[in-house]
Amino acid sequence: MEVNLTINPPKRFVVKISGHILNPDNVGLVIRYGKLLREFLEKGLALSVVVGGGVYARKYIGAVREIGVSEAFCDMLGIHVTRANALLLISAIGYDAAFPEPPRSLGEFLKAYSSGKVVVCGGFEPGQSTAAVAALIAEAINADILALAARVDAVYDKDPKLFSDAKKLDVVTIGKLKEILEKQSIKAGRYELLDPLAIKIIERSKTPVVVFNGRKVEYLEKLVYEGKIFGTLITK
Ligand code: UTP
Repeated sequence: MEVNLTINPPKRFVVKISGHILNPDNVGLVIRYGKLLREFLEKGLALSVVVGGGVYARKYIGAVREIGVSEAFCDMLGIHVTRANALLLISAIGYDAAFPEPPRSLGEFLKAYSSGKVVVCGGFEPGQSTAAVAALIAEAINADILALAARVDAVYDKDPKLFSDAKKLDVVTIGKLKEILEKQSIKAGRYELLDPLAIKIIERSKTPVVVFNGRKVEYLEKLVYEGKIFGTLITK
């Protein structure tokens, strides 16, 4: 993929990895991410990671929704799955370099972050997605960027699965992105890319966000070391 945009390489950043990419079905990829994140820490960069729930969260949520529990309970179960994925990544980073347990709240995160290790989080609270957790953490540590290792390769002006003429955007404002995502549902397990709370936090903190294809670990490497954006930059 060609690079149309370069930014200053970040020194302090948050990476959110989709659970559709980081999960027990892709151990090879988990190991590659673990190695790279460990290397970032060894090079003196300040980073934190958030992991999503992916297909497994959806499976569990689908099952208990069929049983007939509340959306709040579905969310709680989804959070457990994100935390299991977080522990998977912690194993790959090594728990000498990674904080050994995913924090459950922003307060716990900040305590863990002061250890100087890589802190890997799953979800925090029902009613949101891990994108909101990542946005909140990015705001709290005043991150240079929030990198979204997504299952999509970029932001498009409309859903590329539905419209063959959808155009890939190199840069998009958060306001425009809000319009594009407006039709998303906010039921448990159904967020796409950014949930409304994540957008709200990104708007107020003005954290620049980079969306890239999370299956390409090298895109994160090139973003962090060279400031190259293989995807979309979301700006204020
Ligand atoms: P995510 O929404 O983050 O995972 O969490 P996802 O939709 O599978 O996204 P990616 O592609 O992996 O990034 C899974 C579910 O866990 C609950 C929600 O139900 C969410 O849909 N959750 C997660 C919360 O309720 N609160 C959180 O803070 C995080």
